[in-house]
Amino acid sequence: MREFALPELQAGLDPLAELAARPRRWLVTGSAGFIGSHLVEALLRAGQKVVGLDNFATGFQRNLDEVRAAVGEAAWARHRFIEGDIVDPATCARACEGVDLVLHQAALGSVPRSLADPLRTHAVNATGFLNMLVGAREAGCARFVFAASSSTYGDHPGLPKVEERIGNPLSPYAVTKYLDELYAGVFTRSYGMQTVGLRYFNVFGPRQDPDGAYAAVIPNWASRIARGETCMINGDGETTRDFCYVANVVQANLRAALVPADGPRHEIFNIAYGEQTTLNQLHGLLVDNLRERIAGLQALAPQYREFRAGDVRHSLADVGKARRLLGYAPTHSVRQGLREAMGWYVRPPATLSG
Ligand SMILES: NC(=O)c1ccc[n+]([C@@H]2O[C@H](COP(=O)([O-])OP(=O)(O)OC[C@H]3O[C@@H](n4cnc5c(N)ncnc54)[C@H](O)[C@@H]3O)[C@@H](O)[C@H]2O)c1
Repeated sequence: MREFALPELQAGLDPLAELAARPRRWLVTGSAGFIGSHLVEALLRAGQKVVGLDNFATGFQRNLDEVRAAVGEAAWARHRFIEGDIVDPATCARACEGVDLVLHQAALGSVPRSLADPLRTHAVNATGFLNMLVGAREAGCARFVFAASSSTYGDHPGLPKVEERIGNPLSPYAVTKYLDELYAGVFTRSYGMQTVGLRYFNVFGPRQDPDGAYAAVIPNWASRIARGETCMINGDGETTRDFCYVANVVQANLRAALVPADGPRHEIFNIAYGEQTTLNQLHGLLVDNLRERIAGLQALAPQYREFRAGDVRHSLADVGKARRLLGYAPTHSVRQGLREAMGWYVRPPATLSG
């Protein structure tokens, strides 16, 4: 397999100009979810035709409604939504019909969810993933870009994380995400497909579900602090993450789908900002941001409890490969992302439900 095009070419790639010059038909799976809904929004804004597929397992109609309101009716008319489950191969085949580029996001996220129900996580994240690969191959989709995960680094102690050095997975979720990479590689080598896995590191931003047992830390803490509630920190708070604002992830997907490459290619890229933040620092940043928005906010000190099973201790990405081969240039640090997302976190509760 050859590599993606030369770095000099990628530095000049302007995804929006490329999309305007040649509109495509895209499939976004998990389109009612957090990241998927941002991809749909960006593509519709860029004049593309978009098929969305979701079964609302963890996604929401309200996310699609927000996208519709944001892009307007003319752009929304270029969107078609299929309510369906990727565990069903026929649904995947139907969704892929006539599609040029696939951005596969549908999965059951969360390490603890996978420890509680490994069978369902496997069905969606592994079998569902394979169904999507088969559907995309049979439909002749030009490229299959998918949401991989930093959880694949498992117990490897090296920092920053580089794509080739991984350890043992620490959860069923991590196993499924690594399996997806292996299947994608096999589909490239066996069937000549172009496949790109983006290992996301702790993504955050508007429309990330703040509620439920498996909520991600940033929306969960933001809504708790805004309500004057205490945040629980698993462990001593010195655990680190490379928090990545969703705009960076959208950029990475567009670049991964659009960089020129002829012939079969399989590549895996870290997608993050490339900065470590401890949970204690994150809590402080959220409190500072919310204090600016909510007059008289009484923020309580966080409470500490046991470390959580399956969690990795430190996480920091080396995003050099994505920079070199995709021209990826993250625009938002954790601070900038939090500032941009904060308005969404503190909206009246009524608009968060549904
Ligand atoms: N958010 C992160 O920090 C992060 C980090 C690493 C990887 N990822 C991956 O990114 C992708 C998107 O995650 P997200 O944060 O937007 O989560 P999300 O839960 O908001 O989105 C996932 C979407 O997939 C849908 N879905 C789940 N099972 C489905 C099924 N069987 N058929 C059809 N649709 C189904 C859900 O309803 C939801 O809308 C996932 O693959 C996730 O594993 C996310």
